[in-house]
Amino acid sequence: MKDTPHGLIKGEVTGRINWTDSEFSLQITADIACYTAGQFTKLALYDGSGGDEGEWIRRAYSFVNSPNHALGQQVMEFLIIAVPDGQLSSRLDRLQVGDDVYVGKSPAGFMTLDEIPRYTKDLWLLSTGTAIGPFLSLLDEVETQQRFDNVVLVHAVRTSAELVYQDKIQHLEERYQGKFHYVPIVSRENRKDTLRGRIPALLKTGDLVNAAGIALTTDYSFFYLCGNPSMVKDTSEVLIQLGYQKHSRRSTGHFNSENYW
Ligand SMILES: Cc1cc2nc3c(=O)[nH]c(=O)nc-3n(C[C@H](O)[C@H](O)[C@H](O)COP(=O)(O)OP(=O)(O)OC[C@H]3O[C@@H](n4cnc5c(N)ncnc54)[C@H](O)[C@@H]3O)c2cc1C
Ligand SMILES: NC(=O)c1ccc[n+]([C@@H]2O[C@H](COP(=O)([O-])OP(=O)(O)OC[C@H]3O[C@@H](n4cnc5c(N)ncnc54)[C@H](OP(=O)(O)O)[C@@H]3O)[C@@H](O)[C@H]2O)c1
Repeated sequence: MKDTPHGLIKGEVTGRINWTDSEFSLQITADIACYTAGQFTKLALYDGSGGDEGEWIRRAYSFVNSPNHALGQQVMEFLIIAVPDGQLSSRLDRLQVGDDVYVGKSPAGFMTLDEIPRYTKDLWLLSTGTAIGPFLSLLDEVETQQRFDNVVLVHAVRTSAELVYQDKIQHLEERYQGKFHYVPIVSRENRKDTLRGRIPALLKTGDLVNAAGIALTTDYSFFYLCGNPSMVKDTSEVLIQLGYQKHSRRSTGHFNSENYW
């Protein structure tokens, strides 16, 4: 194997949860720098199949746990889906407890609490698939619980088997004492206990807002959008139609986003 490239450090898989045939969580222990809830780092493996032409494959993955969790910030959890023919995710899917995996030393990303404008009272976290991960990390923070009047977690998946981390969600419901509102959406199954469809359409019809039980207002609602880039694009368009503006450091607005590809 070639030398570990600058910026990566060797870690070890110390836990694994299999949610479905293709979705899993890895707990990885590595000596990385401090991170902030909502951020991501790189995971990497060496692909030696090309002989001398072997290469390091690295991709971004978001932390699921808060850096302040009981095991400490060097024990990290990642929620991953194996993309068919995906170069790295299919290899990560083969990792078991005790295996080595390489981790980016320096976490990154701006989908954090500090980037949310101070006027925000109601925080809306809209995710598809594995992008619920960074929102669970944010929700784990005591500041999130204290700072906002309401926090809505929307998780849109294809099938109910991908409504992961139900134990964490139940714990958040107890901890937030009425301030936390969980809205699961399933797109490819008929179920009585979840909304059916896609985030942008359900936002437009008002069904998502009804399910959350929290009114939208340009005065103090703020949205983070994360996951499938077409969900991010379509939802941004609906929010703009509803009178909300994209937020940036230079221009205060109502929503910001992170695309997973
Ligand atoms: C900031 C950030 C955070 C991320 N966090 C996570 C995370 O926590 N968990 C996670 O599973 N992934 C996450 N991703 C996606 C991840 O970095 C990889 O892109 C993904 O695992 C696919 O890599 P691959 O090498 O297997 O696929 P590649 O061989 O690189 O093929 C990628 C192609 O697969 C398609 N694709 C379909 N579904 C996805 C998908 N869910 N993600 C990426 N590409 C997809 C796209 O067309 C994309 O071009 C994140 C991406 C970014 C930018
Ligand atoms: N989920 C699975 O069962 C499964 C199994 C094996 C492999 N994979 C692969 O894993 C990768 C990621 O799959 P994923 O299911 O986590 O993510 P995904 O394809 O992004 O789907 C997650 C949710 O996002 C919705 N969505 C898609 N486009 C949207 C848009 N424009 N606006 C709003 N919502 C939108 C989907 O609805 P729709 O259902 O309406 O598209 C689904 O409810 C894919 O490459 C997939 O092929 C998935």
